[in-house]
Amino acid sequence: MASARVYLETYGCQMNELDSELVAGRLRELGYSFTSESGEADVVLYNTCSVRERAEQKVWSRLGEINKRKATEPGLVVGVLGCMAERDGEAMLGRAPVVDVLCGPGELDKLPELIDNALRTRASLTAGERGARRSAGQVALQGDASRRSSTLAAAGDSLEMLDLSRAISPIDAGQRSAYVRITRGCNKFCTYCVVPRTRGAEIHRPPEHIIDECKHLADAGVIEVTLLGQTVNHYRFEHGAAVSIDGVTQPQKGRTYKGSHHRDALTGERVTTFADLLRRIHEEVPAIQRLRFVTSYPRDFGDDVLEVIRDSPRICRYLHVPAQSGSNRVLKKMNRGYTVEEYYEFLDRARAILDQPEIGRPLMISGDVIVGFPTETEDDFEATKDMLRRSRSKNQFIFKYSPRPGTLAYEKIPDDVPEAVKRRRNNELLALQTEISDAIAREQVGREYDVLVEGLSRAEKKKRGVDVKPGTGMIGLTVGGASPGVAVIDDVDAATSVQLSARTDGDLIVHFDAPTGGARPADDLVGRIVRVRVDETNRMSLRGSLV
Ligand code: SAH
Ligand code: SF4
Ligand code: F3S
Repeated sequence: MASARVYLETYGCQMNELDSELVAGRLRELGYSFTSESGEADVVLYNTCSVRERAEQKVWSRLGEINKRKATEPGLVVGVLGCMAERDGEAMLGRAPVVDVLCGPGELDKLPELIDNALRTRASLTAGERGARRSAGQVALQGDASRRSSTLAAAGDSLEMLDLSRAISPIDAGQRSAYVRITRGCNKFCTYCVVPRTRGAEIHRPPEHIIDECKHLADAGVIEVTLLGQTVNHYRFEHGAAVSIDGVTQPQKGRTYKGSHHRDALTGERVTTFADLLRRIHEEVPAIQRLRFVTSYPRDFGDDVLEVIRDSPRICRYLHVPAQSGSNRVLKKMNRGYTVEEYYEFLDRARAILDQPEIGRPLMISGDVIVGFPTETEDDFEATKDMLRRSRSKNQFIFKYSPRPGTLAYEKIPDDVPEAVKRRRNNELLALQTEISDAIAREQVGREYDVLVEGLSRAEKKKRGVDVKPGTGMIGLTVGGASPGVAVIDDVDAATSVQLSARTDGDLIVHFDAPTGGARPADDLVGRIVRVRVDETNRMSLRGSLV
């Protein structure tokens, strides 16, 4: 069975990208091979996202397409993984009988077995036999069990094996950037959000596992690690406890911890905080030249974390801290747990400690905003515009509110902002943020930055006819042929220089031309950190040259 060819398509956030990478690594170890052509595959997997309706619609249309193929190839195995599988549950099998395997994000360690079962029984199951799929061992969902603490440890333990199993296969040898999970799930329950239901309760991974994984990645050549969590700065591991869940006292603003871990003043437990974790990774894995983390939650940033970032040259001066809205009334309805004044207080504090343009390390902020949350008035919207002006972030991801079944907002607050109003507010915010991003881009001219070269620029890829995915806000990563994160430059003989795309530690993208021959040819630069000077800006994009 394990000689089957797999096609895996991924939607959603970085968490999903990492899950796909881990699942692909595990399946490869078991003897499966991967193809980037869906049409060549024996097993077609979609790792899905449920955060907005649009994300789900994409998958429904994919399932419609694959349904046609299955009519002529009944042996084909189709699997839906990730957040949409968990949210929709077995209802999905009713609406899309083409689906053989259903696997939630909290059950991915079981995926090889589910696929194996499906490959064995595929001939004997007819379309629509829903119950049959569960009894045939082709369905794994957490359901409501994921929030019962008695099952939390078990769920965490088996999933932990998947992260621990991380194998850098030879195919990924060129990989320079990697994600490392530090926290699963989310306990915040923002009223619009499906994630606490799809990813389950918050579980923090033990620091030793995280550090070992970072070392392992560094040994394999990775120089940039992005730590992942839904509220990443909320990280807190209590040693001695099997799992560490919410409901414990959080680090207070301005409180400083010394040492790599310590006894908590209130509970007496030995704990590793987010500040401790960052400091340990920075100290113990120096081969990681860039340490990033997403997504930060505005309320949980103590000065201790900001000071560790300031004092650690390899931790990036970049914070993705979504405010979601600038109106306190809306923030309250969203259950975000902070006021816009508290958000500003945090930004001021972060800038006072971290923003150092004079040493080439300006602090870059980015965020997310939802427009058209139920009951949002023009005044609320104006407050959000003020928030954007005041935040001066390098970019903002702006979303139109999408009601999600199962969330409190969906159940309790009618989606009363008309689509046309949402669209207008969305466009107005985009225009405002473009002005702010342009102004920030112009400030960079004349500055020099160390940048990590990621590969050919978008324009260069277009010129060469390399497939460029449209910027839909969703990630259409296919794990297969080339390794994610690193582009291989071939077909360069026709030109004497190519345009490369690189990133500053503040996550600004810089394009520059590099020669294809000579002492420092372009393909040698990919995956390395080089120094460039920013020469000009073309709207939001920075153009520079090697120094
Ligand atoms: N944990 C992160 C966000 C994860 S979801 C945080 O709290 O910041 C990514 C983004 O999707 C959110 O920041 C939010 O802006 C957006 N989002 C989530 N649910 C949404 C919904 N129902 N409609 C529109 N946008 C939504
Ligand atoms: Fe969703 Fe809120 Fe958790 Fe972010 S913090 S994942 S928006 S519930
Ligand atoms: Fe990520 Fe989408 Fe799930 S944003 S956590 S894949 S709902």
